[in-house]
Amino acid sequence: MNPFGFDLRTIHSSSEKTMSYPTQSDEIALLDGITRKDLEVTDKLLEQSRDIIWSDLSSEYDAEHFSDFLSQSGLPFTPEFEAFKTGWRRDELNHYLGFRQIYSILYDKSPNSIDQAMAAHQPNFAPIQEFLEDEFRICVLIAYDELATTRTYAQDIALYKSFGSMPLANWIKFVTKDRGLNKIRNYITCGLAV
Ligand SMILES: [Fe+2]
Repeated sequence: MNPFGFDLRTIHSSSEKTMSYPTQSDEIALLDGITRKDLEVTDKLLEQSRDIIWSDLSSEYDAEHFSDFLSQSGLPFTPEFEAFKTGWRRDELNHYLGFRQIYSILYDKSPNSIDQAMAAHQPNFAPIQEFLEDEFRICVLIAYDELATTRTYAQDIALYKSFGSMPLANWIKFVTKDRGLNKIRNYITCGLAV
């Protein structure tokens, strides 16, 4: 047990529930079967939303890039941190898959073409290099990113509601909640425990 009262084994075992990586969460299944005909969209709304949804997609997929970056960094990581990172990466991938589905529906792009665009993107992690010295700092950095993204998604709820689809509205609410303070607390806890 750590100073925050969490048992890391609980955190990690709860991550194991959806471990078959890559995987999809039940929440993504709520988006199954939705087509453009089910939505209330105009060309203007689609154009206004494109960059926002693409940004949501990209921020989730950046976890893939960041995980690869950490793996190639040469930094020594404990098994506990590796387990934490695996769970975090899986959560982010699930979020990405949901946003990818929404983008695919709205803009008639194949999931494969979206994947290719994301994989081709080369994020620059140099500006945050000074925070990547040890596991605790990396956990705090991830927590900060989660907090910032949570605030952004909370602001985007109205946009997703405007598409006139309850599953889309529920999706953004789920992702906002899934990135909530509870998870951030777990990240910090991980940093203190390793
Ligand atoms: Fe996420």
